[in-house]
Amino acid sequence: MQTLSDLPALCAAIAALKSDGKPLVLVPTMGALHDGHMALVEEARRHGRHVVVSIFVNPKQFGPNEDLAAYPRREAKDAQMLTAAGVDILWAPTVDVMYPAGFATNISVSGVSDGLDGAARPGHFDGVATVVTKLFNQVRPDVAIFGEKDYQQLAVIRRMVADLDMGIEIVGMPTQRAEDGLALSSRNAYLSDDERKAALALPRALGEAKRQMEKGGAVEEALAKAVAMLSAQGFDPVDYVTLCDAVTLEPMSVLDRPARLLGAAKLGKTRLIDNIAVDIA
Ligand code: PAF
Repeated sequence: MQTLSDLPALCAAIAALKSDGKPLVLVPTMGALHDGHMALVEEARRHGRHVVVSIFVNPKQFGPNEDLAAYPRREAKDAQMLTAAGVDILWAPTVDVMYPAGFATNISVSGVSDGLDGAARPGHFDGVATVVTKLFNQVRPDVAIFGEKDYQQLAVIRRMVADLDMGIEIVGMPTQRAEDGLALSSRNAYLSDDERKAALALPRALGEAKRQMEKGGAVEEALAKAVAMLSAQGFDPVDYVTLCDAVTLEPMSVLDRPARLLGAAKLGKTRLIDNIAVDIA
């Protein structure tokens, strides 16, 4: 695996990789890799012969009071894992390479970015859309793979790729979970032992609300019960538990089309998110 952090070297390495005409797949990450990321890498290997993984902790997607400084960084271990997984290139630019002095462009995807995490974390999805556009332009992949754990992010990227005719196939991979059901996330590393146990309330509350709604229960009531379950386990604040259209993420009060149930809440200092598909009975 080549580990690269400057743009001319990346461009040369990508040109060499692409010379055989085989598809190139990008897996964008912020590092601190876990089994969820490695499942994306395995999927990438199924899609194409050439796999590029990017690791860049993107300052533009963190708000002023968020965890940019504390975000876990494990470069050496990440590189070992990616080498063992047969990745061709690890693209790990510095902040100066990604955002040189004078950088002034912002990509904003309205509608799908506005609610949920877009409302709770102003500017977050502009930061994501801007860096993902840059990563796409730098790596020029045929396919890019993202986890469904960040469901709104995936919806924003799909919208952006369609709107801007980027011509990249976007693949969403089902959320990888620990045996007890907690969605894998780099931020789980912040949880104390007690918080780790309490965190299970998030997938359980979403699962219980899904069951109620799929049995025909009232959406509003199921959502309120889920919020109460989270609060009872010490989540504070509960930013949202919302049923949304699976594609546009518009809020739904009646389960009449394919939907996604999304939740976000803070446990101590750690903000957790999760989501689950809800089917029409
Ligand atoms: O999901 C992530 O790790 C990040 O939001 C991404 C897509 C790599 C952009 O920084």
